[in-house]
Amino acid sequence: MITIAKTVDEVRSIVKGWRKEGLSVGLVPTMGFLHEGHKSLIDAAVRDNDRVVVSVFVNPTQFAPNEDFESYPRDLNKDAELCEKAGAAVIFHPEPSEMYHEDYSTFVDMRTLTQVLCGKTRPIHFSGVCTVVSKLFHIVAPDRAYFGQKDAQQLAVIRHMVEDLNFDIEIVGCPIVREADGLAKSSRNTYLNEEERKQAVILSQALKEGLSLIQQGERDADKVKNVVRSRIGTAPLARIDYVEMVDFKTFENVKEIKGEILTAVAVYIGKTRLIDNFIWKG
Ligand code: PAJ
Repeated sequence: MITIAKTVDEVRSIVKGWRKEGLSVGLVPTMGFLHEGHKSLIDAAVRDNDRVVVSVFVNPTQFAPNEDFESYPRDLNKDAELCEKAGAAVIFHPEPSEMYHEDYSTFVDMRTLTQVLCGKTRPIHFSGVCTVVSKLFHIVAPDRAYFGQKDAQQLAVIRHMVEDLNFDIEIVGCPIVREADGLAKSSRNTYLNEEERKQAVILSQALKEGLSLIQQGERDADKVKNVVRSRIGTAPLARIDYVEMVDFKTFENVKEIKGEILTAVAVYIGKTRLIDNFIWKG
């Protein structure tokens, strides 16, 4: 049976034991309700490291009061099964009070990258992410940590934080895992009813259309964004939060498509906010 560590001391002493044996350690931070997307990260971690820790923690500090912290789906038994099958050694599953004591007051704030895209709509989100990921890095002290390109801005923010704060950890980015019809896998897809699920495919379809325009030689970002926007607009239940094209290093808006460009969308399908993206390198 996979070990479920609920305290910081517990997971630290396990990792210390591995270190004494000279074993390498990979960390996959998650909020649980694991699916094939998470599994691809765990698979990569198992390939690269002697031991893998998966953290399952719905982190309260990255949710605003009006967001879905309470209703976020949770199923530890199923998560444990998936982790064990995939070959992870330990699940770190702390209570919020274990991670944030009553007098908790230190946060990691990044001044660039976090004010745009998801950070614009969710102003406290990346501070919560950077804070909890820093804590997980200190607690587990892995050699490598795995993040999905599904959350491309998060991946860029974490890479930047690791550089800024001198974490001695290699950040490994992993490609987006999709459903058969193209919808990016997400724990939040469970919020969608049947009709919403059908229409949710519009995110990946619109992005695909944008990408093929670029591949055909279009270099005007506004033109590509307009095509993506109008395609999303064909789904009656879709409401656009943003459609943006930014430089993947600086996260500044681009007019001309050149270099490494992140095209990212956030769209409400009914009440559920979904994100998707592609990165194009010219
Ligand atoms: P969560 O949404 O559970 O995602 C955990 C990791 O799985 C993230 O790195 C995310 O990018 C990756 N992931 C999710 N869906 C994916 C997909 N379809 N394909 C590939 N990778 C996918 O992201 C978080 O949790 C949190 O913000 C966290 C980093 C754990 C901090 O609380």
